[in-house]
Amino acid sequence: MIFDVTKIAEKDLQCLFQYVHEEKCKNFLTKTKEHYRLLNAFSDMFHDEILMDIGTFKGLSALSLALNHQNKVITVNKEKRSNFLGKPIEDGFPIEVVTENILSVRDNEELADNIKKSAVVLLDITHNGKDEQDFYEFLLEIEYKGILIADDIYLKRNGDMEGWWNSIKEKKFDLTEYGHWSGTGIVDFSNKLEIKWTT
Ligand SMILES: C[S@@+](CC[C@H](N)C(=O)[O-])C[C@H]1O[C@@H](n2cnc3c(N)ncnc32)[C@H](O)[C@@H]1O
Repeated sequence: MIFDVTKIAEKDLQCLFQYVHEEKCKNFLTKTKEHYRLLNAFSDMFHDEILMDIGTFKGLSALSLALNHQNKVITVNKEKRSNFLGKPIEDGFPIEVVTENILSVRDNEELADNIKKSAVVLLDITHNGKDEQDFYEFLLEIEYKGILIADDIYLKRNGDMEGWWNSIKEKKFDLTEYGHWSGTGIVDFSNKLEIKWTT
């Protein structure tokens, strides 16, 4: 499986504008140095798979992963997000919204099972390095065989994300140059991923 980073620049997410209300969010979807176009390009590598989106917030990452309709996106947030001001993200997209604290995933058999079956997990939660480590240990416990995309691996605001990222021993790629300014890391538990970098 080859992820060609040149595919990111070809992506246009303007069709998602109706699902978001704020101008700021629309800008996030289109500009470089955010990860949404990368997520959309990454999702194109999969068909009929479950893609997990951990940390829904306003739904931009879930929408970006679901835009091509080829997979099912399950998006998880610890509190119910009732302040979506655009169209509901489930409306017209293969998205299932789950309200759960991901740190309690060991007590939620259905969610744990879906994560184990998923091809991709996007992790975008508290960014303190501790919650990410806790979830990472869960992935190791279940012998996860998919691909983890970690957002904000260099964010310093809430804790030691970089320390957590550096501690990861599995095969990993740093796609920050093509993703989020605050860091986009990929851990390949599948051992099948190759990156086609620009020359
Ligand atoms: C940075 S936002 C996610 C942004 C979203 N992925 C995007 O790119 O559009 C982080 C979200 O994670 C949620 N969150 C934080 N800790 C969580 C946890 N332990 N379990 C589930 N959701 C959590 C927060 O409520 C917040 O909505």
